[in-house]
Amino acid sequence: MALQVFTAVTGAAWESELVGALDREDHGVTVVRRCVDVADLLAAATTGTGQAALLSAELRRLDGAAVARLTAAGVAVVGLVEPGDDRSAERLRQLGVVRVLSADAEPEEIARALREAVAGVPAAGHDVGDPRAALPALGLPPEGPGPPAGEGRVVAVWGPTGAPGRTTVAVGLADEAARLGVGTLLVDADVYGGVVAQVLGLLDESPGLAAAARQAGAGTLDVAALARLAWSVRPRLRALTGLARPDRWPELRPQGVAVVLGEARRLAALTVVDCGFSVEEDEELSFDTAAPRRNGATLTVLEAADTVVCVSGADPVALQRTVRALGELRDVLPGVHPVVVVNQVRRGPVPGDPRREIAAALARFTGCEVAAFLPADRRATDAALAAGRTLGEVAPGSALRTALRALAAELTGVPVPTGRRRVRRSG
Ligand SMILES: Nc1ncnc2c1ncn2[C@@H]1O[C@H](COP(=O)(O)OP(=O)(O)OP(=O)(O)O)[C@@H](O)[C@H]1O
Ligand SMILES: [Mg+2]
Repeated sequence: MALQVFTAVTGAAWESELVGALDREDHGVTVVRRCVDVADLLAAATTGTGQAALLSAELRRLDGAAVARLTAAGVAVVGLVEPGDDRSAERLRQLGVVRVLSADAEPEEIARALREAVAGVPAAGHDVGDPRAALPALGLPPEGPGPPAGEGRVVAVWGPTGAPGRTTVAVGLADEAARLGVGTLLVDADVYGGVVAQVLGLLDESPGLAAAARQAGAGTLDVAALARLAWSVRPRLRALTGLARPDRWPELRPQGVAVVLGEARRLAALTVVDCGFSVEEDEELSFDTAAPRRNGATLTVLEAADTVVCVSGADPVALQRTVRALGELRDVLPGVHPVVVVNQVRRGPVPGDPRREIAAALARFTGCEVAAFLPADRRATDAALAAGRTLGEVAPGSALRTALRALAAELTGVPVPTGRRRVRRSG
């Protein structure tokens, strides 16, 4: 049976000709509806009468949410742009359209793209201009040592409920990486309310990640726009603040967050993301696949990250929560293997040598090794919170800062300087 396709390419001069050619010749494609706008296309998609949609970049009100709804309705999407219009091609890709073709492509080629999109064949490379080629022109190469443009690494800092210290670790890692000379972007993606702005003493009215995700949804986010939305905390450290109010979580659309991370990889050699705790999948909403999911942004970050750091507390309650959270993560994202960091380690809540006992318990119940132990150091964290500054600034000699710096060195591969200072001779 021929593939049943919706088109939404109105306004383009070549629309009638293309639709006619697709339909007329034997390409195995039948145009079942020529939609006049996005609303029409979404309505058609819900009828289940088509398996693919062919749309043009000029389609008004086309955004990431519309593409996500088409995909969720089982309609594969192929985009068309005017010949040579690389900017529109990039915009369509940001909206989540994987296959983008030039409108002067042969009908046979377009039909093949539609068939492959429906079959889920991965798209091969970029068909229209590689947007990365434009990067040097923006004058925004990644700063400091690290991978080349577009290949910055993403480290997600996650962990169970109960405030084990995700934000403390995320801020500490980002700050220490920057101090080691690695251009770093700290992103607050906690869907239960972000506090990175407050912790760093920044004005939290800045729109931050929500604005970046919104621009991504509209297809207008690029590396320069992301740089404008981020605070320059100090040389080599930028911060993209989070949701000022937890009830605004629907603004962090997973697809938008994924695009933000893609641009972050171009902006900084290292992106550290402070994540919300939950990975539950809102099953009661799953009958309506277009409904926003609160933890969708968290799952997107965890899936996209090169490294997931799981921060655990160091008392029996916190450890049990970690065991449960790691189990949930394995169920939802089996391909993700987190690096476990135990924070707030102290004598008292577990008998004997806390490091040995905690390592043994986590190995037994999760099979995970502990990558690092961070000491409980209330004096240092209180000093940082009181000043709205980082541990590196207010408690540089503290045990917690030293441990975070060692962890940052391990994650970035940049060694901690040996610290021998040259003594200046006077006279
Ligand atoms: N190693 C540590 N020693 C002492 N206090 C710590 C340590 N790590 C974190 N804290 C303190 O514990 C509290 C919770 O830490 P943090 O905000 O980093 O946790 P979280 O996991 O991000 O919590 P939330 O669920 O609120 O996002 C803060 O007051 C922080 O200063
Ligand atoms: Mg936090």
